[in-house]
Amino acid sequence: MKAIILAGGSGTRLYPVTQAINKHFLPIYNKPMIYYPLSLVMLLGLREVLFIVNPGDIDTFKRLLGDGSHLGMHIEYKVQESPNGLAEGLVLGEEFIGGDNVCYMLGDNVFFGHDLVKIMAQAKKEINKHGGAYVFGYYVKDPERFGIVEFNEKGDVLSLEEKPKEPKSNFAVVGMYFYDNKVIEIAKGVKPSDRGELEITSVNQEYLNRGELKVKLLGRGFAWFDAGTHDSFLEAGEFVSTIENKTGLMIGCVEEIAYKNGWIDREQLIELAKFLEKTEYGRYLLELE
Ligand code: G1P
Repeated sequence: MKAIILAGGSGTRLYPVTQAINKHFLPIYNKPMIYYPLSLVMLLGLREVLFIVNPGDIDTFKRLLGDGSHLGMHIEYKVQESPNGLAEGLVLGEEFIGGDNVCYMLGDNVFFGHDLVKIMAQAKKEINKHGGAYVFGYYVKDPERFGIVEFNEKGDVLSLEEKPKEPKSNFAVVGMYFYDNKVIEIAKGVKPSDRGELEITSVNQEYLNRGELKVKLLGRGFAWFDAGTHDSFLEAGEFVSTIENKTGLMIGCVEEIAYKNGWIDREQLIELAKFLEKTEYGRYLLELE
């Protein structure tokens, strides 16, 4: 399985903050937003990552993450010429995905939960073994902002809708999707929605039509933020700050994960930490066992 992280988009909901800078570089507390989805694919053991980026952002991404070798990874970039929608990222990823399955993450989603990686690993295993699509639902108070999934009493999926005016449920489909290789063809067949975008919900709908969509609810003990508005952005930062300061452990620290995964050795970790040594972040890396 390979990973694609979508880090394009116009970020208009965060204007004027994102008028001159892509939101994925903005800090969620003490690290760039993009570290959070990247850290999750790393925790899942995926070393090959493609970032889908806006034309003007590729150099800034390279300054931040390069080719990934400092993390023992292989990172590639692909430009999305205009913000045509989430499904297009999968089409742009065709060459990178090759014959593999894919974990597709949205660059502005922040997740936290004790069993999160275990649950992601289950999804990965399920897709690698049986194919299809595997997505996650999360209870929200403002369902009109998201892709929504409706269930019956037995837990079967009844419908999916993108940003419905009258939502049939309060369960949002979060920005972490697992797909088999068919997703490339499915994404290619997606037609623009009423708002003119190639929706990821249309991809999921096609899997649902084929009886190949699994949805798992992230319930008690999980926190999920779509840091795409001023309030949710701030909320995500406050959450990370609270957890990190209480536990003394970082969320989304990519250098730590690379080290713990055995992808870089102590010497390489110290090299990375030196560059950051004036910060709490750098000192944290230096103190890792
Ligand atoms: C996108 C998807 C939506 C999903 C959300 C999660 O919305 O279209 O289905 O629920 O991400 O963050 P966007 O935030 O790009 O409008």
